[in-house]
Amino acid sequence: MFSDLELPGKVYPNYQSGKWIQKEGADLIEIRSPLDGSLVGKVTAMCKDDVDEAMDIAKRAQPRWRDVPIHRRAEILHRAASILTENAREMVEVLLYEIGKDRKSGLSEVLRTADYIRFAADSAKNMPGESIPSESFPGFTKSKISLVTREPLGVVLAISPFNYPVNLSASKIAPALVAGNTVVFKPATQGAISALHLVKAFEMAGLPAGVLNTVTGYGQDIGDYTVTHEKLDFINFTGSTQVGKRIAGLVKMKPMLMELGGKDPAIVLEDANLPLAVSNIVSGAYSYSGQRCTAVKRVLVVDCVADHLADMLREKVAALKAGNPAADDEVTIVPLIDEHAADTVMSLVEEAKDKGAKLLLGGKREKNLVHPVLMDHVTTQMKLAWEEPFGPVLPIIRIRDAQEAIEIANRSEYGLQSCIFTQNIDQAFSIASRLEVGTVQVNGKTERGPDHFPFLGVKSSGIGVQGIRYSIEAMTRPKAIVINISPHL
Ligand code: NAP
Ligand code: G3H
Repeated sequence: MFSDLELPGKVYPNYQSGKWIQKEGADLIEIRSPLDGSLVGKVTAMCKDDVDEAMDIAKRAQPRWRDVPIHRRAEILHRAASILTENAREMVEVLLYEIGKDRKSGLSEVLRTADYIRFAADSAKNMPGESIPSESFPGFTKSKISLVTREPLGVVLAISPFNYPVNLSASKIAPALVAGNTVVFKPATQGAISALHLVKAFEMAGLPAGVLNTVTGYGQDIGDYTVTHEKLDFINFTGSTQVGKRIAGLVKMKPMLMELGGKDPAIVLEDANLPLAVSNIVSGAYSYSGQRCTAVKRVLVVDCVADHLADMLREKVAALKAGNPAADDEVTIVPLIDEHAADTVMSLVEEAKDKGAKLLLGGKREKNLVHPVLMDHVTTQMKLAWEEPFGPVLPIIRIRDAQEAIEIANRSEYGLQSCIFTQNIDQAFSIASRLEVGTVQVNGKTERGPDHFPFLGVKSSGIGVQGIRYSIEAMTRPKAIVINISPHL
């Protein structure tokens, strides 16, 4: 159904003003598969003029879109969700070849995205606003009522990362649109073809021209220009802390929502249910080869159960299949997005080994396929204790007690999530209240969903709050109309 998106020569056009456009002679970027280096397709390296055009179109379309009743906007989103579901198998194959995501995870991403879009549509319809009486404030009688509704912000710039090119794009676009904003969407370059398929679903759903517009091209070339564009009103960014900080430094007086990197710890205490901890830690750390912001990226385990936990982890990690997910649906450890990512992982592993960490498993690499690495006796002197590898590597750091776990967890520059494994609920609450993160999971792995929960990072892990209702709130502002009531009849 999406097949007409591809032009001859495997070129994928951009969507602007309700049309798929491909300018003759435009520079093209080859998107090669992380699985085997084959050509997945080509997208345009857009220039500043193209960005201007997208922003102009979005700005002009916004007043008309804002005036479309919410229930009509929601209907379009519901149709887009159905189209995604109907075309899930095709989307899964695109995700597989473009970003190396195994079919099971790809299907879960697409179906979850359809659910997200439907939930966003329904949430927006059910945000009624409020009326606030003046009499509740000292010194006031019933002399005023503030009627508070929510207004869209205008043009939202959505920038998404490579690892969830459908879901982390839709989780910006859907709440922005249903709230009455128009969108300029710059997907990750590796992931752009998957993202353009998502846009196709919105087009097929009947989105009016100009409401959603895409800009492809390397962030390092057009990113600075795009994020500082005078016509945008809000930036919704997910990606690395490095790029997030750069954007935050460049942009003046524009609100933004940022979800950035993480170094989520799994804290395992002496009374933990170890089988439960092990299965959560392994799926949390290694699914999609650890290329998830919320992956478990370090284990902090108390000495008295550390040997036992390490043995159990080793057994489970050894059973993970590594290879090409196109050839084998049982593969968990897929090739990393590129060789540079594999270099980063291997250099962290080497440094830790040189400083005395014990390699329990792994160390083998074939191009960008890094076999799962498990390292014990990692210390706080090693980079692996602090840096985000975005790959299939898990360091075990042994600690004295819960106090030391909190201290090491909080010493990180990141603050996305943490998880705690203990059967003592009082202890879990006490530790949770002291961890400097957006979310603490008790007896479960770190993860974003379900998508209507608040999802946020503190410190270098983000600014603002995602999650369906929270995202709609972030991309709208209150508008108050105050009725002054005459005391005289
Ligand atoms: P990235 O390199 O930071 O890229 C993210 C997006 O920013 C891409 O679309 C990229 O475009 C664009 N970009 C690059 N330079 C830019 C600039 N100067 N101005 C504006 N945009 C620019 O991240 P990634 O490698 O795709 O994703 C992995 C990282 O994202 C990890 O650190 C991970 O933890 C984080 N992440 C966080 C969350 C979360 O919710 N907290 C979720 C997913 C991922 P190009 O692709 O063209 O470079
Ligand atoms: O990569 C970052 C995503 O926000 C993580 O989502 O926990 O559902 O994998 P996830």
